Amino acid sequence: MTTSRFGQPHGASPVQPVSSSSSSSRSTPSDPAPVLALHDVSRVHGEGARRVNALLHANLVLHPGEFVAIMGPSGSGKSTLLNLAGGLDTPSSGQVLVEGRDLASLNAAERAAVRRRSIGYVFQDFNLLPGLTAKENVQFPLELDGCNVRKAAAAAVRALDEVGVSELADRLPEDMSGGQAQRVAIARALVGERRLLLADEPTGALDSNSGTAILEVLRRRADDGAAVLLVTHEPRFAAWADRTVFLRDGRIIDDTGPSDVDMLLDDPESGGA
Ligand SMILES: Nc1ncnc2c1ncn2[C@@H]1O[C@H](COP(=O)(O)OP(=O)(O)OP(=O)(O)O)[C@@H](O)[C@H]1O
Ligand SMILES: [Mg+2]
Repeated sequence: MTTSRFGQPHGASPVQPVSSSSSSSRSTPSDPAPVLALHDVSRVHGEGARRVNALLHANLVLHPGEFVAIMGPSGSGKSTLLNLAGGLDTPSSGQVLVEGRDLASLNAAERAAVRRRSIGYVFQDFNLLPGLTAKENVQFPLELDGCNVRKAAAAAVRALDEVGVSELADRLPEDMSGGQAQRVAIARALVGERRLLLADEPTGALDSNSGTAILEVLRRRADDGAAVLLVTHEPRFAAWADRTVFLRDGRIIDDTGPSDVDMLLDDPESGGA
């Protein structure tokens, strides 16, 4: 499939619901187990005068097939939330469950295995390994997980092709533009059929058309059953999501959906709930 299932006119009005079908209508009658669940999660850095409440009492549940956008000002806790969801950071309190497993109950090796198998993560600063080519960067997590080299390489080529950078397969990160590195980082997150995709401003270094193409890929993964959590500053990208969660000062202030994006951006004081 090369076009959006939702008939979304790309580049059209900045905010519009992507579909009349909500996440709940995608769920089976028995309501499948969440891919991601944050229960009353807080993350506090430092102590005393240096204390920073990066995230406070966050509750968030993503079921299979759900695509959720996270928006909020710089420093509001978006990356903190994503890092906690991805098992890269540990909450000060509360629980993070990925496919029903409490990440805090796992040892480091088990947590790393969950990250490799279940979670695709696009970092805000790409995080490609400098000594490896694009293809090697993408196939590396599969190999770590025991996939044989030939299969891993084939999967890497497919993922690079999906985000439009197959011609960069043998190029090193230092010889890529920011936008090229970003797309390779996205390919690395997509490879391996992961059930939870976490993307921290994956379009930040991309032009408008490339950004839309990436949103199409993420939307398609959600339609195929993955749970997708996307941090973005751009309402037109958030409009691809089923709902939008707004953060301010470490708190989720609204998660009622894309139709509220305009109101909250125009009048940031109106969203406190
Ligand atoms: N390791 C840390 N030590 C102390 N404070 C931290 C640490 N990491 C994050 N913070 C603070 O937590 C708050 C939330 O940071 P976070 O990176 O989650 O914001 P963000 O919403 O992703 O911002 P941006 O849009 O700029 O990426 C900020 O005040 C930040 O300074
Ligand atoms: Mg951030």
